[in-house]
Amino acid sequence: MAMEVVEGDITGLAVDAIVNAANESLLGGGGVDGAIHRAAGPGLLAECRAVGGCPTGEARITGGHRLLARHVIHTVGPVWRGGNFGEDGLLALCYRNSLALARQHGLRSIAFPAIGTGVYAFPVARAAGIAIQTVAATLDSVPGIERAIFCAFGADMAALYRALLAAPASSGSRA
Ligand code: APR
Repeated sequence: MAMEVVEGDITGLAVDAIVNAANESLLGGGGVDGAIHRAAGPGLLAECRAVGGCPTGEARITGGHRLLARHVIHTVGPVWRGGNFGEDGLLALCYRNSLALARQHGLRSIAFPAIGTGVYAFPVARAAGIAIQTVAATLDSVPGIERAIFCAFGADMAALYRALLAAPASSGSRA
């Protein structure tokens, strides 16, 4: 699996699945959740209602509806509460569970937003490090996934991801 960084709006990516940073209700919200529901259309919300929610750290898959992406993998990041409430582990679970779902559905490309770093206020550099390390560590167990994209909604975020990918600690192939 090659890891790569793309700067821009995740709703514009033509991949097998884009990951949504949702809340436990799965009934939409602001941030990337709002952007994905706006681009996908009302059918996504209807499908999410039938899913019936998603606990923090877990992931659920739906169709992509009007999106270019074939699927949306909804995951719920932890609300940052200072770092002593298992936030790091829950954020890592979001990436691992999203990749596991992609593998179960035979997907070959997946794009992640910076889960948790907006409304949920997870420190950006810490979250990016967890994202890169978790995906890099999962590389070998999801051989079918050819492309794992970190979608940065801004130049600073893109630069941060690229710096972390270039660091020797994040082993595994990189684009
Ligand atoms: N494409 C890619 N990334 C985006 C987009 C977009 N269109 N819009 C926002 N982002 C980025 C933000 O800049 C941030 O870096 O997604 C990251 C995650 O921020 P949020 O969307 O606020 O998600 P999160 O911090 O996980 O909070 C989730 O916010 O929108 C509500 O319903 C959602 O309650 C949930 C909470």
